[in-house]
Amino acid sequence: MTFVVAEQCIKCKHTDCVEVCPVDCFYEGPNMLVIHPDECIDCALCEPECPVDAIFSEDELPEAETVFLELNAELAEIWPNITEMKDSPADATEWENVPDKLQHLER
Ligand code: SF4
Ligand code: F3S
Repeated sequence: MTFVVAEQCIKCKHTDCVEVCPVDCFYEGPNMLVIHPDECIDCALCEPECPVDAIFSEDELPEAETVFLELNAELAEIWPNITEMKDSPADATEWENVPDKLQHLER
C-alpha cells in the first residue's frame, strides 16, 4: 500500500506534507508533488498535514481520482526529491477546491 497525492494538490502545492515524511518520498513537479509508491511506508503522517486534503491512502482514493495512483508512480521516477517545505504559489488559495485541475498539471 501507498499514500497518493491527488488532484487538489495541483496549483496549490503547499508542501507541508514533505516536512513530516520519515522516508522523504515526495517528489516535486512544476505545480504539484507526488509520492513514490515503492518508498512510502504507509505511516499516514502526511495526510492530515495537507491544508487542501489532497493526500489519500491508496484504498481510500476517490473513484474519480484513481488516475493519480499511476501518475504518482510515473512522475516520482522523473521529478526531483523534495524534503523541505517552501512557500506556496502566490495564487494557491484561488485554486483550492477548483474542479478538473488535472488539465493544469505541468510535467
Ligand atoms: Fe511519507 Fe508516511 Fe506520507 Fe508515505 S504515508 S508519503 S511515508 S509521510
Ligand atoms: Fe500538495 Fe498538500 Fe503537499 S497541496 S504539496 S499534498 S501539503
